[in-house]
Amino acid sequence: MQSSTNHIVYVASPETTEAQANNIAQLQGLNTPVLLKRRGTSLGWIAERKEQLQINAEAAAQAWHNSYAYTLPGFVTDKLASQQQHIDQSLSLMEQIAEGAEVAELFEQTPYIGRTSEQFEMLASFQDEGDDQEIETIEYDAVEADEVVGENLWCKASWLSFEEDDASLRFRFSFGMVGYEDVAADLKRQHYAAQLTEAIFPESSIISNNPALESFMQKVLGVEKLSYVERIVYFNSPNGGAQFHQDVERGHLGVVFAQIHGRTGWLACSKSQLIDEIQIFVSNTDNEPALVKLLPDTHALEELKQKSQDRELLNNWLDQRDNEPLELLLNRCPEFYCHLIGKGFAYLINAGDIILLPQKSLDECAWHTVFCLDNFPGESLSFAVRNIE
Ligand SMILES: [Fe+2]
Repeated sequence: MQSSTNHIVYVASPETTEAQANNIAQLQGLNTPVLLKRRGTSLGWIAERKEQLQINAEAAAQAWHNSYAYTLPGFVTDKLASQQQHIDQSLSLMEQIAEGAEVAELFEQTPYIGRTSEQFEMLASFQDEGDDQEIETIEYDAVEADEVVGENLWCKASWLSFEEDDASLRFRFSFGMVGYEDVAADLKRQHYAAQLTEAIFPESSIISNNPALESFMQKVLGVEKLSYVERIVYFNSPNGGAQFHQDVERGHLGVVFAQIHGRTGWLACSKSQLIDEIQIFVSNTDNEPALVKLLPDTHALEELKQKSQDRELLNNWLDQRDNEPLELLLNRCPEFYCHLIGKGFAYLINAGDIILLPQKSLDECAWHTVFCLDNFPGESLSFAVRNIE
């Protein structure tokens, strides 16, 4: 198992008051507890043990092999101070967009225009009407001496939810037609899309220009040369975060996620572990009251029970979009969270920490869910990592 197993302890159910949760954590010699809460649903109080976690490349490589998450506490803490000005600029950018400012208009002003104009030409900005979460997509060409060297790169700003009181948003960088092009096959444009991220969010260098991290990741992945591609910059806001999901995409091996402002709470485990725990939880009759409360519709509850019995069926159901009973179990069931946290699948990621999320294939990947823990928006870098020849 990973060295971080049981580093985070389940303290109390979500109805517990902050004062009570503090008392329980103190009695157990734990750090101050935090409430996992997203879009109005509270899932439980957790707290960190006081001992520091050790970082070990061999254990990280083993975790990667098994598709477990692995954390590197404080790995990039010493990089934050020199990037603080860029981080502050990005937080202010995020706030302006959350308040309704146009992304393209902001990108045409200082400091963005000065950092992009030499290497990139803005082509257009638009909003995809078929994508309700999209805020704006801004397209660029990469240019060198007036010649286009990388066509149709884009930065897509999107909300993470439809909730009015959750301002969480992200900027994703890639190129070409979403879903139609094999981005992994075009290393050159992947490179220019990564450069565009650096120009707009220079704090990207916390991951991408970091020799210590590069050498650590070479050991973890067992490769000589690697590249950070398909980059996303996240701003998780109070009451926000991400539902349980995976980030599998052809052509990359997994994700390096660095928290650079604020902190986030996580549950993360391999898909295979998640399937095990769903089967154990749903088949345990002690959990019947929790399941009936979660799924008052008997058809939905019956579907969850039926499909959970068969490992292969459950495996495929996790990959489907229309799987509401399962989605509710994974995102709205406090008792299931208590169960998963008890298994050691919870993490607290502070500014300066990294979490590694292997994403090798649909069946071999780390599933994860994220919670904002602060009363202000945080910032994090989520970069895919790939082997290059
Ligand atoms: Fe993710």
